[in-house]
Amino acid sequence: MPKHDQLLVGLDIGTSKIACVVSEADPDGKLDIIGIGTHPSRGLRKGVVVNIESTVESIRLAVEEAELMAGVEIKSVFTGIAGSHIRGYNSHGVVATKNGEVTAEDVARVIDAARAMNIPADQKILHILPQEYIIDNQDGIREPVGMSGVRLESKVHIVTGAVSSAQNIVKCCNRCGLDVADMVLEQVASSEAVLSQDEKDIGVVLLDMGGGTTDIAVFLDGAIRHTAVIPIGGDHLTNDLVVGLRTSAREADQLKKKYGACLVSIVSPDEQVEVPSVGGRAPRPMPRQVMAQILEPRVEELFELVKAELKRSGFKELMAAGLVLTGGCSLLDGAVELAEEVFDMPVRLGRPHNVGGLAEVVSSPIFATGVGLIQYGHRYRQNRPMGKAESTRLFSRVWQRMRNWFGDSA
Ligand SMILES: Nc1ncnc2c1ncn2[C@@H]1O[C@H](COP(=O)(O)OP(=O)(O)OP(=O)(O)O)[C@@H](O)[C@H]1O
Ligand SMILES: [Mg+2]
Repeated sequence: MPKHDQLLVGLDIGTSKIACVVSEADPDGKLDIIGIGTHPSRGLRKGVVVNIESTVESIRLAVEEAELMAGVEIKSVFTGIAGSHIRGYNSHGVVATKNGEVTAEDVARVIDAARAMNIPADQKILHILPQEYIIDNQDGIREPVGMSGVRLESKVHIVTGAVSSAQNIVKCCNRCGLDVADMVLEQVASSEAVLSQDEKDIGVVLLDMGGGTTDIAVFLDGAIRHTAVIPIGGDHLTNDLVVGLRTSAREADQLKKKYGACLVSIVSPDEQVEVPSVGGRAPRPMPRQVMAQILEPRVEELFELVKAELKRSGFKELMAAGLVLTGGCSLLDGAVELAEEVFDMPVRLGRPHNVGGLAEVVSSPIFATGVGLIQYGHRYRQNRPMGKAESTRLFSRVWQRMRNWFGDSA
């Protein structure tokens, strides 16, 4: 049985499903997936918890399944956060180094200086992601510690989220007897699982197409440059099929997963699918192209919104590695081809990689966030080898952040 401190658990609380991924780090630092639990998610809308009871129940069932498979007891999880309340800002800070040489303390101070910006009272900082450091006007520095210089600047990407949404996630986990080790922006987690370092260096857009939201993350020069959330996802496609095919939401979702295509030209006109009717009427045959005709304009519209966001961010033309699609909706037939047309960039499907054990089981884009959460957690622990003091510090850091969210009452 794995030792508890080698366990890393990712809990993706999605709009469509809850996925609990359990992994164990082997002595070389490689992550082996040892358990997975999934359960349909009830209680979220557009990435945000709207019903605590139903969410707690779904989480409990997913976690129990994962515990059973892995043969462990799960106590602490890395969980994701998403929704249109999320905001991303680029900010920068400046400090003078104390001894003419940059120390770790100077770096901490300059990151702190960058967080001094006005954010709305109902929002809290979730992440401060360093992009680069500038020492005495020399820019593009990734590891400043030990370098000589008197003026140290940091450029960072700050992600904020609604306090109440974060609190509700923590509340749901706590009710299931789980501690939240950290809360990670979902597209940041997914990017850990599906992007390569080379792509992040030369410029890449990650698009996590989920059930309730489509999440964007832009990387360039190895760091995150822009984040955004579009509150449209697979649920909207399902709704369009409900209306267009006159069938129930459950059947429409099944049909979409089995036969869905978002490019009319790749579907043969001869292909027929059987559409179950409502109210006891007999199923009807229908050309598969009709489904594609319903889905194509909607997915195209979604891609156009993403394109407008990329243009607004100013990064559209700098993405040499193009675009990576992940999340459940990226499995639609023709999604990659349609994206290539709309964005005029190379596009590929992103599946979780760089894990062992039950890697096959989590190789679907649906598990990008779940697997990414454990990779994020692993990197975070690896960067700071956890002695007792370290682990106490991590705890107090997370605790401090949670306490900030809860005000003084926690
Ligand atoms: N094979 C498939 N083909 C097309 N669509 C699919 C397929 N499998 C799943 N989907 C759709 O993907 C969506 C779920 O994706 P995913 O599991 O990534 O979402 P989520 O993480 O639960 O939601 P969110 O990230 O928005 O909170 C649903 O709309 C589902 O119908
Ligand atoms: Mg998701």
